[in-house]
Amino acid sequence: MKILEGEEGLQTVVTMLLAGDCVALPTETVYGLAADASQPGSVAKIFAAKNRPADHPLIVHIASAEQLADWAIEVPQVAYELAKRFWPGPLTLLLHKAPAIPGAVTGGKKTIALRVPQHPLFLEVLNKTGLGLAAPSANRYKQLSPTTAAQVVHGMQDRIAAVLDGGPCEFGLESTILDLTSDQPAILRSGPINRSALETAIKQPVNVPEQHDVAVPGNVAAHYQPRAKLNVCERQALVRAEGASAGYLIYSEEAVIALETAGVAKVHIVRLPDSAAPFGQGLYHSLHQLDLSGVSEIRVEQPPGGESWAAVNDRLSRASG
Ligand code: TXA
Ligand code: MG
Repeated sequence: MKILEGEEGLQTVVTMLLAGDCVALPTETVYGLAADASQPGSVAKIFAAKNRPADHPLIVHIASAEQLADWAIEVPQVAYELAKRFWPGPLTLLLHKAPAIPGAVTGGKKTIALRVPQHPLFLEVLNKTGLGLAAPSANRYKQLSPTTAAQVVHGMQDRIAAVLDGGPCEFGLESTILDLTSDQPAILRSGPINRSALETAIKQPVNVPEQHDVAVPGNVAAHYQPRAKLNVCERQALVRAEGASAGYLIYSEEAVIALETAGVAKVHIVRLPDSAAPFGQGLYHSLHQLDLSGVSEIRVEQPPGGESWAAVNDRLSRASG
C-alpha cells in the first residue's frame, strides 16, 4: 500500500475514486475506507478489503446538507437544524433511503446513514469527485479503528492500494449516530457529540436506547477489540500479581505512582490526559501501541462516568467484550 501526501496525493486519490477503486482517507474521527457510494461494484471492494459481512450497512459521506435529498427521502426539518449546527462534523444521521440508492451500500436496509465530514482533505475529495463516498473505518473486520495513516498500513497491508495521509485524527473516536427515522431522535452509537449538545440544538429530548446492537447491525462489541485481552480496572485493582505481560492505559497521577511502585516497566505504560476529549483522541492509538508491544493483557484505569466520557466508556465496554 502506498501512503499518498499533498496536492499530488489528493489528485491521485480523486482519480482512483472516479475510476471505481477504494482508498483510505482521513476524517476527523478515524480513517475511512472510501469508494463511490452509487456504484455497487465499488462498494463491494470495501466489503472485500475489510472482510466485512455484506449486511453491515456503511455510512455515506456527502459534501453538504444540500445533498441530503439526493440520498434520503422524508428528511425531517430537525435533520437540517442538526446539519446547520454540527456539519461538517462527527455526527451521522440515519434517515429513510431514497429508492434509487443501491441497497449494497445500506446492507439491504431501507434506511441510510449520512454525514458531512470535517477533515479538509476529505471535504476536498468530496468536492473534486462530486461523489457521495461510502466509508467505514479503514480496518479489517473486527479490528481496531485506525487514527493515523501508519495504522491503516499496518492493519490493511496490500488489501488496498493507497491511503491519503491527513495526520492524526482530531477526535479519534467514531461519529455519533443519531436515528431520525422514528418519532423521537435516538442515539444509536455514542460519539464526540453528546446527548445534551443534540438536545440543546433541537430543543427536544433524545433517546439513548439500552441495547445499541439491535438497531445498528455491525455495531457489535468485537469491532472495537484489540488483540490483547482488555480489562477495565478500578485504580486500586490495576496492579495485581498475575499478568506478568500486562500493559497499562492510565490517566491519573495515583496510577502512575502505583505502577512505578510495583516496578512495572515504562514501555508497558501509556498515560493519556485526564479529560474526556484528549483521552478519546488517544484511545485507539494507545491500544494499538500496547498491542504492538506484545502484551497479552491491557488493563485500563476505569475512567470517570458522566456524559462527556460516554463515548470513551462505550468503546471500552465493547473492547472488553
Ligand atoms: O466516524 C465515523 O462514523 C467513521 C468515519 C470513517 O466516518 N465511520 C464509521 O463507519 O465508523 P463504520 O462502518 O465503522 O460504522 C458505521 C456504523 C455501523 O455500526 C453501521 O451498522 C451503522 O453505522 N449504520 C450505517 N448505516 C446504517 C443503517 N442504514 N442502519 C443502521 N445502522 C447503520
Ligand atoms: Mg468500524
